[in-house]
Amino acid sequence: MAPIDPHSFTDSSHPLTTHVALSLYLDFNTSIIHGSALLSLSSAFSGDLSLDSRCISIDMVLDPQTLERLPFHVSTNPDPIRGTEIVVSLSGQSSLLLVYSTSPSASALQWLSPLQTFSKTHPYVYTQCQAIHARSIFPCQDTPAARIRYDVVMNIPTSLSAVMSARHVRRRLPVLEEAKHLEEGSLGSSLWCAEDRVVEEFVMEQLIPPYLFAFAVGALGFREVGPRTRVYAESAASEVLDAAAMEFEGTEEMIRQGEKLFGDYEWERFDLLVLPPSFPYGGMENPRMVFLTPTVIKGDATGAQVVAHELAHSWTGNLITNINNEHFWLNEGFTTYAERRIVEVVQGADRATLNIGIGWRGLNDEMERFKDNLECTKLKNKQEGVDPDDVYSQVPYEKGFQFVLRIERQVGRTVFDDFLKKYIATFKFKSIDTDTFLEFLKANIPGIEKEINLHLWTEGVGIPEDAYEPVSTIYTKIISLAEEFKQGKMPSEEEVAEWNGQEWELYLENLPKSCEPSQVMALDKRYRLAESKDYEVKVSFLQLAISSKCREYHGEVEKTLKAVGRMKYLRPLFTALAQAGGTEEKQLAKQVFAEARETYHPIAQGVVESILSKYI
Ligand code: BES
Ligand code: ZN
Repeated sequence: MAPIDPHSFTDSSHPLTTHVALSLYLDFNTSIIHGSALLSLSSAFSGDLSLDSRCISIDMVLDPQTLERLPFHVSTNPDPIRGTEIVVSLSGQSSLLLVYSTSPSASALQWLSPLQTFSKTHPYVYTQCQAIHARSIFPCQDTPAARIRYDVVMNIPTSLSAVMSARHVRRRLPVLEEAKHLEEGSLGSSLWCAEDRVVEEFVMEQLIPPYLFAFAVGALGFREVGPRTRVYAESAASEVLDAAAMEFEGTEEMIRQGEKLFGDYEWERFDLLVLPPSFPYGGMENPRMVFLTPTVIKGDATGAQVVAHELAHSWTGNLITNINNEHFWLNEGFTTYAERRIVEVVQGADRATLNIGIGWRGLNDEMERFKDNLECTKLKNKQEGVDPDDVYSQVPYEKGFQFVLRIERQVGRTVFDDFLKKYIATFKFKSIDTDTFLEFLKANIPGIEKEINLHLWTEGVGIPEDAYEPVSTIYTKIISLAEEFKQGKMPSEEEVAEWNGQEWELYLENLPKSCEPSQVMALDKRYRLAESKDYEVKVSFLQLAISSKCREYHGEVEKTLKAVGRMKYLRPLFTALAQAGGTEEKQLAKQVFAEARETYHPIAQGVVESILSKYI
C-alpha cells in the first residue's frame, strides 16, 4: 500500500480508472446531485479498491455485469484535506457502479439562487474542481496521475441548459430505463421523467485528469466569436455577452499563434464561459470550454491576457499534466511562459515585458509572505498534509516562468522552440513529474546541467541569482516613479497619460506596503483609484489604503468584498484587514465575511476562513 499522490487515497498497486460514465440528477431545490458513477478500471482487480470522496453519501455499489451488490466501506473519520476514503471490495471486476448523492456543501459546486444571478429568475450551478474537488461531485481516484475519458447524462429543469468541458451530444427527453439505479437509491421515484425535466448528454473523448471535469447549468446564452469559439454567459446578461464577444474577438488569432508555437490544438473547440462574479478564479482551463470571471471584461488587454493563459494550458497543463500538486509548477510555470509568448505576438513585446514585470514584483512579494515557510518557495515542494488551496501562490507561476525563461535564454529561442514542441509531442496526454522533465531536458539539450543549476532551480528555496528582472523603458520608468513616491513625489498627469490598468497595477505594487495616509489619499484624490472599474487597480489601491490605516476607505472595501468572489481580490483584502493590527480592521473583516460568506464559492469560503483564523 503506497499512495501515489499526497492528496489522494489512490493506491499505487491498484489499477487506475480509464473511463467514467455519470448519470446526474440536479436538484436545485435541495442543492443536491443524485448520481451514479460507472468507473472502468485499466484491468480487473481483486481486493480493496480505494477511492476519494468528499461529503458524498453512497447508497450502494454494484457490479455492473451481474448487478449484484459489492461490499464497501466508508471511512468514519474524514481527512481534513483529502476527504473520505471509500473502499470497495472487488473480486475480479474491472468496473464498478456507485449510486450516491452529493451534499449541498460540496466543495466543487456553487449553487446560486435565482436572486444571486443576473436574471433574478433562474438558478445556476457551476463547478471548480482543481485541485482536489472533483471528489465532491463523484467518487473517483481524484489524482492527476489518473487520466480518464467520460460520458455524462445530466437531468436538469427544462428551463435551463447545461454546458460542459466536453462535447455536447444532444438534448432530449428523459427515459425511464436510465433512472433505474438512481431511483433504487436516494432519488425519489418518477422524478427523472417528470414533465419539467430534460436530459443533456455529453462525451469527453480526450483523456483528462479528473480536475478538468467541469460543467455549468443555468439560463445560458451565447455569441459566436470565431470558427471554434463561442462565448457563453447568462442569456439575460446580454451586455455581458456583447462585451465579451468584443473583448475576445481575437481568440482565433491566439489559437493560431499557439499552434505555431506549441503544435496542433488537440481539443477541437475552444469555447469561453463567463461566470457570475462569485467565480473564485480569474480563469480555469477547463478543456474545450474555459471558465472566466466577468471581472476580466473591461475593454483593455487583460481579458485577452487571461484567455491567452487559459488557452496556453491547452498544451501545458491539459496535454502535459503535473502528476500531482507537488509538481504544479509544471502546469503553471510553463503556461505562464507560453501565455507570454502568445501575448508577445498578439499584443507586442512591451505588453509582454510589463506582464513579466508585474510577475516579478509578485514573486518577490511571495518570498516575503513565505519567509517562515520556505518549502513554499521551492518549485517542487512537499505537500503531505498541505491543502493546495491554502498554499496557492505566484511561486509556481512566476518562479516556474523564470526557470523556463532561464533555459530559453541559455539555448536561444530557435533551439528552445524546437525543444518545447518536442517536449509537448512526447508527453501529450500524460501526467509527469519534475524529474521526468529534467531527464528529458538533459537528454535533449546535452550539457545544460553544466550551464544552469537545475537542482537549485527546482529544489532550492528563494529566487536564484540568475533570474531575470525585465528591462524596458516603460517598466523601468514605472519602477522609478514608485521609488519617488517614497520621497513624497506623485506621478504627474503627463507621466500617467498613457497608463491603463496594468501600468497602474505595476506602480501600486511597487509602492511600500504601507505609506503616509495623507499621501495615499492625495494619490487617490488625483487619480480616483478606489473607484476604478478595473479590479486589479482598485484592489491594489485598497490594499495599500488598508495597510496605511486610511479608514475612509472601509466602505469601499466592504462594497468590493461583497461584489466579487475572485480569490485574487479576497485574499489580499482580507489579509490586509487581518494584518493591519487595528481592531477596527479585524472587526470589519469578520463582519464582512459573515455577511458575504454565502455569496462565495465554497473554495473561497475555505480560503478566507483560513486567513481569518490565522490572524484573528
Ligand atoms: N489553473 C489555474 C487556476 C487554478 C489554480 C484553479 C489552482 C485551482 C487551483 C488557472 O489557469 C490560472 O492560473 N488562473 C489565473 C489566471 C492568470 C494567471 C492569467 C487566475 O485565476 O488568476
Ligand atoms: Zn494557469
